[in-house]
Amino acid sequence: MLKNDLFLKALKGETVNRPPVWMMRQAGRYLPDFMKLKAKYDFFTRCQTPELATEITVMPIDQVGPDAAILFSDILVVLQAMQIPVEMKDGVGPWIPNPIRSSEQVSQVIAPDIHEHLGYVLDAVKMTQQALNERVPLIGFAGSPWTLLCYAVQGQGSKNFDIAKGFCFSQPEAAHALLQKITDTTIAYLKEKVKAGVHAVQVFDSWGGLLSPEDYNIFSWPYIQQIIDALKEEIPVIVFGKGCWFALHEMSRSGASALGVDWTCTARNARYLSGGQITLQGNFDPSRLLSPIPKIKAGVHKMINEFGKDRYIVNLGHGILPNIPVDHAKAFVDAVKEYTH
Ligand code: CP3
Repeated sequence: MLKNDLFLKALKGETVNRPPVWMMRQAGRYLPDFMKLKAKYDFFTRCQTPELATEITVMPIDQVGPDAAILFSDILVVLQAMQIPVEMKDGVGPWIPNPIRSSEQVSQVIAPDIHEHLGYVLDAVKMTQQALNERVPLIGFAGSPWTLLCYAVQGQGSKNFDIAKGFCFSQPEAAHALLQKITDTTIAYLKEKVKAGVHAVQVFDSWGGLLSPEDYNIFSWPYIQQIIDALKEEIPVIVFGKGCWFALHEMSRSGASALGVDWTCTARNARYLSGGQITLQGNFDPSRLLSPIPKIKAGVHKMINEFGKDRYIVNLGHGILPNIPVDHAKAFVDAVKEYTH
């Protein structure tokens, strides 16, 4: 039995004394112990070695104390499993040597056997569950099909993913074929993660906000909806669309258990757009963790008052930045634990 089920209670919309808290990208980056492992092992070795993934996943639970763990891995492992090679280059970030630019290339993309190609993630889930020993729930995740297409086609990170968008607008049939292959793989992958023991899953649509609302409904949302439809009976699904406040209304009717919000949308607007019933997650500006600690704590309490303590999961509006001092991350989490309404 879970010792701390606040996060699952909030996902169900149950009344709580205080909201749960976790931070996107909490496993890594700003933690000195993580940097030591980073110096020894390259990025995908850390992802592919269950012992390392477990150690990194549990690190913030021991050192910062959030109410949920997120498995250390990456959204891009799904592309690798589909035989689209991905490297992590220092100073560049994700690097795809042979980006997908034609329908011939799309037809060569495979729908992989999950156990064969992503078995190491499933092993990491099982090993992490043992290490967590029911202290907090474990979140599994995947990138949205659109966000994965962005990397597969652009070939690397980008401010506007212009090549990826150009591919969708000039070769829509090929784009939809690729999006569907990624969707089918993601559904199979997340179902296996559920079997391996995660308590909830989050879909990261990090680049959804680069699309116009109209194009979002063509190239991103329908595929996320397929993922929700396939998983919602089995497990709570959280959808985080960066810059996607315009889609909150549609998302609130999707069967997702919670919706992520970034810091450009007020709590009031997010509640209004999402209809007031669904659990929301967010939305502290990650750079705000650079404020002095008393300011962080006051900001967190103000944010909880604005979202309301129920149907709410405290989080950042995007991933934690590498330059955040650990005591500032801890102050963010402590502020939530100190909250009395
Ligand atoms: O949340 C967690 O701590 C779990 C681990 C996690 C990582 N990536 C580890 C990681 C998660 C949930 C992700 C998701 C991810 N990966 C997203 C969606 C979330 C978001 O922030 O929008 C995206 C877009 C990626 C792709 C990716 N991976 C990028 C753009 C980069 C390089 C830039 C960066 O953020 O540093 C990565 C590398 C990566 N993934 C690192 C970590 C800890 C840093 C590199 C390293 O440790 O060597």
